[in-house]
Amino acid sequence: MSPHDERELAIEDEGDVVAARQMVRQAAQAVGFGVTDTTRIVTAASELTRNICNHAGAGVMRVRSIDEDGRSAIELEFVDQGPGIPDVAQAMEEGYSTSGGLGLGLPGSKRLMDEMEVESAVGRGTTVRVRKWLKA
Ligand SMILES: Nc1ncnc2c1ncn2[C@@H]1O[C@H](COP(=O)(O)OP(=O)(O)OP(=O)(O)O)[C@@H](O)[C@H]1O
Ligand SMILES: [Mg+2]
Repeated sequence: MSPHDERELAIEDEGDVVAARQMVRQAAQAVGFGVTDTTRIVTAASELTRNICNHAGAGVMRVRSIDEDGRSAIELEFVDQGPGIPDVAQAMEEGYSTSGGLGLGLPGSKRLMDEMEVESAVGRGTTVRVRKWLKA
């Protein structure tokens, strides 16, 4: 994947989790991640895709590679126009779920990746951005 390559996937239902996993797996391998890190990245992508399905209804995933000061990373962005998250810090806590889930998706994704940003506005939607850097 060249630095300018960006791929986008519409997320409409749980069936799109399979396509999201495939897209992210391919991109992670193209950046140069090994099996273990690729699995981590794909797992985070699954959770964040499921969150869009379960909590927002629909959205998009964008996948891109980054090259900064000779270092490479993969960046995944999950964007929806759903109900938003009133308290992002609370949503990031392990065990917090508004839907009877385990409440592990957001904190787990943060652990699996190197960086995570959540921007959310009630009534407007949510953007979750995660990044993982390739070790030299
Ligand atoms: N895209 C989103 N839009 C609106 N709310 C969200 C979104 N993603 C997460 N949330 C809120 O954050 C909470 C925590 O998310 P998290 O993924 O950690 O747990 P969960 O989805 O409830 O359960 P699990 O992922 O363990 O099955 C959710 O219950 C929901 O209230
Ligand atoms: Mg979840």
